[in-house]
Amino acid sequence: MMKIKVNENFSRVKESYLFSEIGKKVRAYQAAHPDKAVIRLGIGDVTLPLAPVVVDAMKKAVEEMGVKETFRGYPPEYGHTFLREAIAAYYARKGIKVAADDVFVSDGAKSDVGNIVDILGRNTVLIPSPVYPVYMDSNLMSGNRIELLEAGEADGFLGTPDVLDGETYVIYICSPNNPTGAVYDRAGLKAWVDYALTSGSLIIFDSAYEAFIKGDYPHSIYEIEGAEKCAIEICSFSKMAGFTGTRCAWTVVPETLTTEEGFNLKKMWARRQATKFNGVSYPVQRGAEAALTQEGVKQCAALVDYYMENAKIISEMLTKKGVWHTGGVSSPYIWLKCPNGMSSWEFFDLLLEKVQVVGTPGEGFGEAGEGFFRLTAFGSRENTIEATKRLESIL
Ligand code: MLT
Repeated sequence: MMKIKVNENFSRVKESYLFSEIGKKVRAYQAAHPDKAVIRLGIGDVTLPLAPVVVDAMKKAVEEMGVKETFRGYPPEYGHTFLREAIAAYYARKGIKVAADDVFVSDGAKSDVGNIVDILGRNTVLIPSPVYPVYMDSNLMSGNRIELLEAGEADGFLGTPDVLDGETYVIYICSPNNPTGAVYDRAGLKAWVDYALTSGSLIIFDSAYEAFIKGDYPHSIYEIEGAEKCAIEICSFSKMAGFTGTRCAWTVVPETLTTEEGFNLKKMWARRQATKFNGVSYPVQRGAEAALTQEGVKQCAALVDYYMENAKIISEMLTKKGVWHTGGVSSPYIWLKCPNGMSSWEFFDLLLEKVQVVGTPGEGFGEAGEGFFRLTAFGSRENTIEATKRLESIL
């Protein structure tokens, strides 16, 4: 028997990650009912192919890798300059100032959300509920003290700092929120930035769904004055450009993030990445660069529009059936109330067994998500229409 010590904090997390648990249940159901056609509207995985400009750029890059003169070995650890600059230019086109040198390219927002805890010490962490479960799980694994910022129907699923007493936190914000689709307006985000600045807190801002925003809402925390002194931003190509299988994302750690004790977060993140990460492949970075060109943004916006039409189809049916729901406007997720007071896992089982539609139980996003359920709009049109019909038949 081994005598090593392990990270006992792992006993604080549930045995399976939310989407692994769902996958396991669906596989078991499918094995027992091989004749049933299951429609997966659970994990937010895209279904449309990559935009043509992205494919062309990646093909060209692969060709370069096959020629001695243009072959490349390890990519630069923080991302190729061309992509870091393209990301800075993407912000600049929206009037947001981000320095290319503060941009760190990675293989996914999930990795960065999970890894950022490496450079932080024993802080109290403020996590919204409901929210993307990786914030909670990664902080539990690190043994951090967690406080929940619960939000619900009454506040439009947007927690505010009004309830806080000036304590210093690491604050997670996801806007548009996964799973509820709630988006902070400027005043709402400013309140968080102001709180962080006065309390000496750090905001970790997840903008993975910014490309879905409709209307005049901030796409980045850096639209708010002072955010460069208190916020890290994590964004991804997964949902905006269909990169869930291609893998590319970025994190902005402004040079100006320094602690009272003189630690510079950018330097620390750079050190962490250089030690533990070897970069994203050249063809993928070329594809990501293409997604941010004007033509790329246009082609990717067409993908987003397609998914948002799916959201509309689901939402219209729920409205017709009188089911309370939100989201689906500035986010690819529909967040609905489980009927008849059912728990979210009960509703999950019911949908799987009766109509073979998979969604995500709200409880998986935190206790405040209990009694709610998430459906993704990332399915194919055909599957979305079929799933909507099936749902309509039992709601
Ligand atoms: C989700 O379904 O919430 C996301 O696809 C998960 C992720 O991006 O890791």
